[in-house]
Amino acid sequence: MLKNDMSEILVSEEQLQETIKKLGATLAEDYRGKDPLVICILKGAIFFMADLVRAMDCNLEIDFMDVSSYGNEFESSGEVRILKDLGQSVKDRHVIIVEDIIDTGRTLKHVVELLKHRQAASVKVVTLLDKPERREEAIEADYVGIEVPNKFVVGYGLDFKQFYRNLPCIGVLKPEFYEN
Ligand code: PRP
Repeated sequence: MLKNDMSEILVSEEQLQETIKKLGATLAEDYRGKDPLVICILKGAIFFMADLVRAMDCNLEIDFMDVSSYGNEFESSGEVRILKDLGQSVKDRHVIIVEDIIDTGRTLKHVVELLKHRQAASVKVVTLLDKPERREEAIEADYVGIEVPNKFVVGYGLDFKQFYRNLPCIGVLKPEFYEN
């Protein structure tokens, strides 16, 4: 069982759904009448995105962007590249960026600057998890689900070497799986 590879479960499936329902209701209220373009940053945010937009009772469009930083599985090098770009223009659109986690903040800083440069009417960020202890860029999400400690979290989209994304909750990976 995947859960056996975890030293602890940080956020249960029930807690995740409760958090996402609240975020969705808040966003729907803030964006009603604005027909926002909701952008999922692949791959980590796919499950959050899928649940979040279904909790938003307002008109919206969805799109996807795959952004990656160079580096190994522990540290990004700070260089951000776009692996897949949006299918449409963001010009004059109210954009909501959906992230699974903000760690150093490098990915987000790059994407926010890019979408502002492309003349979006507004750019806001919603993240399921926030790990403020690791921040290197002065950037914060506008909507935060759950703040997490500086531990190796996986599940609900977050991976270790591409595994564990399908764990339905957020867990802390046992060190024996990533230590040599
Ligand atoms: C992860 C995560 C965020 C980013 C956060 O993506 O989904 O996009 O890192 O880290 P940062 O704040 O230090 O930039 P990753 O590049 O690992 O790709 P993935 O979502 O496909 O796993």
